[in-house]
Amino acid sequence: MSDIGRIFVAGAGLMGHGIAQVHAAMGHDVTLYEPDGARAQAGLERIAGNLERSVAKGRLTAEDRAATLARITTTDAIDLVAGADLVIEAVFEDLEVKRALWRELDGVAGPDAIFASNTSSIAIAALAEAVSPARRERFIGMHFFSPVPVMPLIELIRADTTSDATVQAIRALAAELGKAVIVSADRPGFIVNRILMPFLADAMRIYEQGVGSAEDIDAGARIGLNHPMGPLELADFIGLDVCLGIMRVLDADLGLAHLRPPAILEQLVAAGHLGQKTGRGFYTYPRA
Ligand code: CAA
Repeated sequence: MSDIGRIFVAGAGLMGHGIAQVHAAMGHDVTLYEPDGARAQAGLERIAGNLERSVAKGRLTAEDRAATLARITTTDAIDLVAGADLVIEAVFEDLEVKRALWRELDGVAGPDAIFASNTSSIAIAALAEAVSPARRERFIGMHFFSPVPVMPLIELIRADTTSDATVQAIRALAAELGKAVIVSADRPGFIVNRILMPFLADAMRIYEQGVGSAEDIDAGARIGLNHPMGPLELADFIGLDVCLGIMRVLDADLGLAHLRPPAILEQLVAAGHLGQKTGRGFYTYPRA
């Protein structure tokens, strides 16, 4: 068992709500924070919906669903981080947004709390600069994959300052969650997004160039490569703004042509077409 009991999750979006769900399901007390309380509540409702589907499929009892939900508190009060053993940040992929939040959390959290960022691409060392030098040994990258309850991987990223004890604590927690762990060096995009983003960007570029329709490009990857989703539908699922944010970090830090965001992606995001969550991206979706 890990020594981590109480968990504070900052951000209740696609990743944050799933991260809160998997920890509460394993018996941890979870506080789900958003500065706008209605967004935290919306995250909890998504969790309730996920758990309801599991009950309907006979994979979860109604009692376990209720117990998991009872372990989650939503809040707009950042002060509640004071009692947490672990803080997981899952907010928008923007260095300054994340740094400002970590600075604030560092001022309130207990001295022993571990800080873990779910960043998809930003160097952990750049984020750890936002907290006091004493905290930096307890600052680590803990990158989950979407849908978090389904995808069995956590990518751990240690900065030069991260201690062995912090790595061990997160490994123990990942084992409790039943997730496999890979360890990446603290380089932009880490391992998985250095593989994934060029793949998605190339699929977007061949779409732009008229090499194939969106349906045929995706079918090529699904049927020809046995991927569960094609690259364009996966980009819509992840969020086109999220993909663009990651590609911009990779482009800025590595400057490699194949990592440059495709024009079609810039255009869709500028038009507010962010994929599944807005009802339109490379495809259109019925509104929830
Ligand atoms: N939230 C929670 N659970 C979900 C879900 C969601 N959004 N979508 C599906 N599930 C669950 C279903 O309830 C179902 O659970 P049971 O086995 O208990 O019934 C299970 O997942 C399988 O779902 P379905 O049978 O409905 O659908 P499927 O077989 O088509 O699988 C999928 C859906 C798991 C999403 C699959 O299409 C898949 O694996 N897609 C690729 C996902 C992927 O690549 N994720 C990584 C993205 S990259 C990332 O997240 C990191 C980053 O930094 C960008």
